Amino acid sequence: MNDFEYRNGELYCEDLRVSDIADKMGTPFYLYSRHTFISHYQAIDQAFNEIPHIICYSVKANSNVALLKLLANEGSGADIVSGGELYRALKGGIDPGRIVFAGLGKTAEEIEYALKEGILMFNVESSQEMLLINEVAEKMGKQAPVAIRVNPDIDPKTHPNIATGLKESKFGIPLNQAMAEYEVAKRLSSIKPVGIHQHIGSQILESGPFEASLRKIANLANSLKVLGMDIQYINIGGGFGIQYTDEQPPTPEQFAAAIVPILSGSGCTAILEIGRMIAGNAGILATKVLYNKKTEEKEFLVVDAAMNDLMRPALYQADHHVAPVKSLETAREVVVDVVGPICESTDFLARDKVIPEVAQGDLLAVFSTGAYGFCMSSNYNSRPRVPEILVSGKKAYVIRRRETYDDLITWEAIPRDF
Ligand code: LLP
Repeated sequence: MNDFEYRNGELYCEDLRVSDIADKMGTPFYLYSRHTFISHYQAIDQAFNEIPHIICYSVKANSNVALLKLLANEGSGADIVSGGELYRALKGGIDPGRIVFAGLGKTAEEIEYALKEGILMFNVESSQEMLLINEVAEKMGKQAPVAIRVNPDIDPKTHPNIATGLKESKFGIPLNQAMAEYEVAKRLSSIKPVGIHQHIGSQILESGPFEASLRKIANLANSLKVLGMDIQYINIGGGFGIQYTDEQPPTPEQFAAAIVPILSGSGCTAILEIGRMIAGNAGILATKVLYNKKTEEKEFLVVDAAMNDLMRPALYQADHHVAPVKSLETAREVVVDVVGPICESTDFLARDKVIPEVAQGDLLAVFSTGAYGFCMSSNYNSRPRVPEILVSGKKAYVIRRRETYDDLITWEAIPRDF
């Protein structure tokens, strides 16, 4: 499901030409399709229809408040990891009763903020965090609903930097300590254990790891119920993989076919913290070729977007499909490195890519950048962050404007006596 397609050699986003948007807005920019974004949400929602479930969109994947509003309209909840993400989710109109709070370094202030807003539950990552939540809740005269994030020691078979459910990972509480931790939680006067949480990794391309870990989690849920704990939710985390180049990820239906049978007998509501599968292929990064540069070794395209705009290639050697916005059928193919202007050797958007030859001034699209794209961007090298544009049919909305040079120094101050 994708609304980015070529018509007569021109890349469109829904009913608008990407090149027309570039003429109006300048480059670089992120461009999202409202239809793709919402369809992805709906496809997952539909696939899990057989069991009670809540999709808590993972705000970290793309946290633009306009996109959060679109999801709120669909009834989505949110998976958040900070007070800032809670603020965004609420501003986007997401029901606090559908918000789950993960992350292993929650502060007392963040806990208080979340309790005040009445979130669905905290995903607790350590014994000390549990005690702090209890303390804050007690002071406020509230009961804090919690799930314990269990580390099931499962290899999600993804890039090591985004695997989170292995024994050596900093995340979660090891499965063999979870029972004891639930017993402690049960005795704490202001804690109410209501769920179990796992998140085994991101960009997972097979359903096997989910099956293996969820069997363990479903067993744990049973044991806890036997002990009289009212476990109502099993949170399967996020991690459904997407196609960047030639991956063949399971469809939402295929993930559901593997997962639903394991959870259907549990009597629990499933929570899905999906980020990438909703946002990833709903966005592109459009950039302009500044220079063609050839050395003895390599052919480079120096473009106006850089690693500060899209960190994934530099950080994870992520491979994104890159193609000219105007596709010239006659163009010969070349092997290029697409690099940005930043003074770092790791500043590349693509390496050894085979693409049709392009010239100075031509536009390129870096595909599948709707998730972990803009939200991970920075101002490194004092580069103003690029705008985010959302297309809906024939309309384009600027949902975040391009930063100015003034914006760059807004938060800085020269002391008076300098
Ligand atoms: N839940 C938790 C607790 C998470 O830590 C994450 C992602 C998700 C849900 C959402 O996972 P998703 O459905 O998007 O795979 N920056 C990396 C990805 C880091 C993922 C961090 N956690 C990247 O660009 O590939």
